[in-house]
Amino acid sequence: MKAGLFSSGIIGTGSFVPAQIITNQDLEKIVDTTSEWIVARTGIHQRRIADINQAASDLSTIAAKRALESAGLEADELDLIIVATITPDMHFPSTACIVQNNIGAAKAAAFDLEAACSGFLYALNVANQFIAAGFYKNILVIGAECLSRITNWKDRRTCILFGDGAGAAVVSRVDDGYGFLSQYLGADGSGGSSLNMKAGGSRLPASLETVEKELHYVSMDGSEVFKFAVRIMTSAAEQAIKAAGIKKEEIDFLVPHQANIRIIDGAAKRLNISLDKIYVNLHKYGNMSAASIPVALDEAVRSEKIKKGDYVCMVGFGGGLTWASNVIKWAVRAK
Ligand code: UT7
Repeated sequence: MKAGLFSSGIIGTGSFVPAQIITNQDLEKIVDTTSEWIVARTGIHQRRIADINQAASDLSTIAAKRALESAGLEADELDLIIVATITPDMHFPSTACIVQNNIGAAKAAAFDLEAACSGFLYALNVANQFIAAGFYKNILVIGAECLSRITNWKDRRTCILFGDGAGAAVVSRVDDGYGFLSQYLGADGSGGSSLNMKAGGSRLPASLETVEKELHYVSMDGSEVFKFAVRIMTSAAEQAIKAAGIKKEEIDFLVPHQANIRIIDGAAKRLNISLDKIYVNLHKYGNMSAASIPVALDEAVRSEKIKKGDYVCMVGFGGGLTWASNVIKWAVRAK
């Protein structure tokens, strides 16, 4: 099945996480928490934190080069670069333009896309449209975050959750019968206040007052987001599976957003998909927002958990509120 003129799929993946590790025990020293609480309530054991000199474009550039290598493509063969992030290097120019210059993708257009933790899947689904329509041949899609820069390290409700990293995928034409079988995007702006960063935009530009009031950090109503997440992960995955024309039992591998093991377990139960078909790496990295799914995808491909011909479902949710999913018949062997 193909939705456009051309079959479109992922032909290469790459990822990068910074070297510095912050363990739960490290966090016990800075906020009133325990490793037992963090593991029991989230499943997270440690997270990676970018070096002070590393910004989202630096993590993106390494992930991008690895994805291009695995796709067997040169940077100048790229037609477009999309970076999904809520922690761009700066408001403008876009992080995608910075990456374009870093990797020497002189012929590529470039833009950032913001859909919080759903950002990578939003970007992937946008890329699929350009390829399926025949408008472009090769697109680099990146999800990258330096969440440590917008984390309030004094707030135990949020600082235990997040980590930094980047993942990338090259979307190109693939053989008929392979590639994207479905995609699904959704949003509910009425829930925007449950997960946001209040200052730094045109509503509340940065000022001494906004800094003093700690408004440049992630603010979250955890239990509201939790309830939404379990419900939407299930229904978004179901929508994509149904639109792909396959049964739930036929899904070989599920790559979900890595926010909380209890959210993943809850969705797995409702979807009746066994845990051995679900890729989980949040114990190592925490929640990397837009980077979570592409890093998980890259690890699953490189460890040959995802193989040519597999039906792969990706599903994510996040601030906005937003959600996204797709089903892909995997087109290439791991390299
Ligand atoms: O990528 C998308 C964005 N975010 C998410 O997906 C997050 C979704 N939400 C969650 O994962 C969970 O809601 C959290 C992990 C954030 C919180 O877990 P919870 O089971 O919903 O805990 P809670 O917020 O209901 O808090 C329970 C208790 C509270 O104490 P009281 O009021 O009952 O006395 C909190 O103050 O746990 C307390 N608490 C902590 N205790 C020790 C909150 N954070 C901590 C902590 N250590 N780090």
